[in-house]
Amino acid sequence: MLDVVQSGVDRNIKTLLQEYGEEIIVETYVSDITNRVELEKIRDNLLSKYGHIDILINNAANNPKVEGGSSNLKALQFTNFPVEIWNQDIAVGLTGAMLCAQVFGGAMEQARSGIVLNISSDYGLIAPDQRVYRKAGLADDQQMIKPVSYSVVKHGIIGLTKYLAVYWAEKGIRVNTLCPASLHNNQNDDFVEKISDRIPMHRMSEPEEYVCTILYMISDAATYMTGSTVVCDGGRTIW
Ligand SMILES: NC(=O)c1ccc[n+]([C@@H]2O[C@H](COP(=O)([O-])OP(=O)(O)OC[C@H]3O[C@@H](n4cnc5c(N)ncnc54)[C@H](O)[C@@H]3O)[C@@H](O)[C@H]2O)c1
Repeated sequence: MLDVVQSGVDRNIKTLLQEYGEEIIVETYVSDITNRVELEKIRDNLLSKYGHIDILINNAANNPKVEGGSSNLKALQFTNFPVEIWNQDIAVGLTGAMLCAQVFGGAMEQARSGIVLNISSDYGLIAPDQRVYRKAGLADDQQMIKPVSYSVVKHGIIGLTKYLAVYWAEKGIRVNTLCPASLHNNQNDDFVEKISDRIPMHRMSEPEEYVCTILYMISDAATYMTGSTVVCDGGRTIW
């Protein structure tokens, strides 16, 4: 599993280095964010090399989706939703974010400076409309659904942000949430059409459309922003 993650990370680094050459330094660590000891090792390594940690972005989550992969959507209706999957999803999406905030935020607390950006979702604000995942001809209990754990994790991330924003407000650490939505990723036409019908801009988003918002939120242009939920969703949550 970690090999697969490492090869994905290596691919991204190659792209970055091709684009920016020697202008940037990229250093990566692959780790399970539910393991506090592993996170502490990374923190200690970073602190001994660079002396400070400026930004933490909590992005990892189990995100079952329409497009392929082993963790894609399953026909697990709420009343039979396995508690094992619930526990795994909460462990990555909430406990992992909390542990990263403890470990890396702890270093920021010492320095009285830092920024935490937590990634939620439009599903941190609204419930999934399960009709977009339905396939014609399948019985109700065979239909794919977005799991309850995803909603709870994404709503919980906003709660974690608000808690930490207040907790660290006078200690120089800003904590905010970004809610992205509906990334276009070669999903089938039927799904794209159904989801676009629920978005006022009537289209899915591209990854590039989040870059400037993220840069703003983690920069000194946003020094008075903390505890905020920034929504980039083509208008989906206003309908
Ligand atoms: N794709 C979308 O349409 C969409 C929409 C709204 C919000 N989001 C949010 O954006 C974030 C990224 O989504 P994505 O679509 O890129 O998901 P993804 O499934 O492609 O990526 C999730 C990442 O989390 C990592 N991860 C899982 N468990 C881990 C663990 N225990 N330790 C360390 N890393 C772990 C995985 O390796 C993977 O790289 C998620 O928080 C998701 O909820 C995505």
